[in-house]
Amino acid sequence: MSEVDLVPRPAQLTVHDGQFTITPETPVHAPNPIAELLREVVGGGTGFPGGGEGTAEISFIVVEDAQLGAEGYRLRVSADGIRAEGSDTGLRWAIQTLRQLLPAETFGGGAPAAGARWPVPCLEIVDRPQYPWRGSLLDVARWCHPVKFLYRYVDLLAMHKLNILHLHLTDDQGWRFEVQRYPKLTEIGAHRTESHIGHARDNRFDSTRHSGWYSQQELRDLVRYAARRGVRIMPEVDVPGHMQAAIAAYPELGNDPHRKLDVATFWGISSHILNVADDTVHFVQNVLDEVVDVFPFDVVHVGGDEVPPDEWMASAAAADRVRLAELSAVDQLLGWWASQLSAHLAGYGRRIGVWDELLDNGVPPGSLVFAWREAHQVAAAQQAGFDVVAAPQEFTYFDWAEAHSPDEPVAIAGVVPLERVYSYQPGEVIGVQGQLWSEYLPTPELVEWRAFPRLTALSEVGWSPGAREFGEFRERLTGHLRRLDAMGVNYRPPDLEPSQDRVPEPPAGAGPDGRPPGSRPPAGDEPPGDEPVPEVPGLIVPGP
Ligand code: ACM
Repeated sequence: MSEVDLVPRPAQLTVHDGQFTITPETPVHAPNPIAELLREVVGGGTGFPGGGEGTAEISFIVVEDAQLGAEGYRLRVSADGIRAEGSDTGLRWAIQTLRQLLPAETFGGGAPAAGARWPVPCLEIVDRPQYPWRGSLLDVARWCHPVKFLYRYVDLLAMHKLNILHLHLTDDQGWRFEVQRYPKLTEIGAHRTESHIGHARDNRFDSTRHSGWYSQQELRDLVRYAARRGVRIMPEVDVPGHMQAAIAAYPELGNDPHRKLDVATFWGISSHILNVADDTVHFVQNVLDEVVDVFPFDVVHVGGDEVPPDEWMASAAAADRVRLAELSAVDQLLGWWASQLSAHLAGYGRRIGVWDELLDNGVPPGSLVFAWREAHQVAAAQQAGFDVVAAPQEFTYFDWAEAHSPDEPVAIAGVVPLERVYSYQPGEVIGVQGQLWSEYLPTPELVEWRAFPRLTALSEVGWSPGAREFGEFRERLTGHLRRLDAMGVNYRPPDLEPSQDRVPEPPAGAGPDGRPPGSRPPAGDEPPGDEPVPEVPGLIVPGP
């Protein structure tokens, strides 16, 4: 008999006596996209649906029901069969719930033994999410993770009923999105000559080139795959800072077109930012034309974080722009940049997403604000009247280590424990999002180590209504980790003591951070403390 340890916890669950047994012969009735998805998501590990002639059946029925909302569903398992009702999206989540009612071994995806039968406990579920935005940011700019891993990551999000993948596609250290009009963005911008070994503050490098980008076709295919699972992909092209890779490819975008820059190799924030020329605005707008063509999602994130204003302060052209646009200060050029992009994307019926620095410098009306610089920015953005995605670093930055331990793989800064993630109360926002900045996540194994189970905890913050109690979650998590085990997910065991760390598989020839696996970090590499990092968790790279 399966245990009922569903994650995220459903809004209402009543378990009854008895069970229904699924066999490869159990008939399935479902509208086509749902039937196919059921086969793809659940079928591999169970051998059903087999389309047999039995009387007890599984049926998935699309209904409009205001009580269920856009993403809700009802699921009833009785001795007579399984019946799910809901919106099209709701039925996709019902599939994930049904999957979790099956034994954990079915998550392995291998062919089942001949004649396998799968018991499902009799129960009734009425379920719908607390927040419409349940996101996960994956930074593929610092390390370009294989596209195959992105598919697996989408599967893991869908399994947790997380519905947004925020792909951070561009940064100082790499440009990963193919732009047909500007091929040098990937010919030059997708390569850097070397990467850090250990922490950036150690200032050591590996002399190894890192390259990679995604073709538009690869991303279109990924978008389609994700959408079938209820996951939307929001692209981010981060401007006007974090653009050194683009400026390396097209120096005319920078504030000194005669200066030859390389794609950045240092884990920090480049001081080289976009200039404020009309041609540069048109360049970015042209890039966004291709972005919207690949990503149908309503929101395009245009960044706006961590923009050192020094180059603008020293620029006569920037001073002219401040005067012409009737701005009060150079800092306001950040809001001016966002307005140029917001107006352009409005022509496609899209809105922009921005990091919360824009709150200080003129957020265009209608923007979606991603509040990241500590939890009080969430309230500030909301009080300023914006739709807010809560992404405060002290609760949702999963690139931070999970605990103080000298055995933890090297992390950027600070500590975000699992229990703190679970305790997060986002308030009146449209949703929550966990961040995986990838400076210190060079491999998919390390991404999984940092993501899970903290993303599991966040999925429940985003989905499950009512009071949350960590002890109760922790018990359910034990069953859930068996599913992740079956999938081979390299999660960090939640009760890991120092020196028991299962150090993730390193890339060939080196530890994940360049050290031999399991070795102690060099002196001074310990995470700095449990308290939130007060400023940006990066270092400014001075101009050469
Ligand atoms: C950020 O962490 N720079 C949004």
